[in-house]
Amino acid sequence: MWRRLRRDIQAVMERDPSVRSAWEVWFTFPGFHALQLHRMSHRLYRWRLYFLARLLSHINRFFTGVEIHPGAQIGAGVFIDHGMGTVIGETTVIKDNVTLYQNVTLGGTGKEKGKRHPTIEEGAVIACGAKVLGSFTVGRHARVGAGAVVLSSVPEYSTVVGVPGRVVKMAGRRLAQLDHHVVPDPMARYVETLQKQINSLEERLYELENSVDGCQNDLNDDSWKKSG
Ligand SMILES: CC(C)(COP(=O)(O)OP(=O)(O)OC[C@H]1O[C@@H](n2cnc3c(N)ncnc32)[C@H](O)[C@@H]1OP(=O)(O)O)[C@@H](O)C(=O)NCCC(=O)NCCS
Repeated sequence: MWRRLRRDIQAVMERDPSVRSAWEVWFTFPGFHALQLHRMSHRLYRWRLYFLARLLSHINRFFTGVEIHPGAQIGAGVFIDHGMGTVIGETTVIKDNVTLYQNVTLGGTGKEKGKRHPTIEEGAVIACGAKVLGSFTVGRHARVGAGAVVLSSVPEYSTVVGVPGRVVKMAGRRLAQLDHHVVPDPMARYVETLQKQINSLEERLYELENSVDGCQNDLNDDSWKKSG
């Protein structure tokens, strides 16, 4: 237990350049507090004291802004930076040395039963605002970019960004250039489709008008001949 506590403090000191002492971590880091309170709550959960576990998890959320279900399994050396708004579901597994930032969701899609939350492998980084939803694995040392919505497995040593998340880097190599200037604009596409429909309707109207004019001319010609 003490070894894991030491690793948790070390993780913060190694990964947050703003930290000056272990005391600072111990007294002022909500992510660290959230993790330690979760470890107690998880123990209660394993002893099947579900209500007490849930109550402690709720107190944890009240003080730190981090909501971790007592059933979630979290390894050593995990660093939750800031933490506010982060939600971790019941069947989530977080291995050693993972880093999570604020407002991260490790949740389910609402469609699965049993194991329905992700497994985050060793050394992975989940950036602020990222949503990782479903029962799949985020590979070792993978990075999930800020604001990404990830719905399927992430290979190890890769970087995933965007909505829905897609792999843009694998083992340090870029896979494809991201064309930020040609991000799809659904409104523009809709207007374009409407314009095409208007053009086609105008063409048909023009054809109809011509054919009606033609018919009228024919009729006029016939009546002239008859009267002649
Ligand atoms: C994803 C991240 C971890 C960087 O990973 P990386 O492997 O070093 O990736 P790179 O920075 O080389 O970026 C690769 C590509 O993804 C793009 N990218 C990076 N982060 C992105 C994001 N969050 N959303 C969309 N695109 C992103 C980059 O622009 C780059 O595109 P390009 O190839 O067209 O230039 C980092 O950008 C990130 O999101 N950090 C946020 C950390 C955080 O939460 N901080 C909060 C502290 S309070």
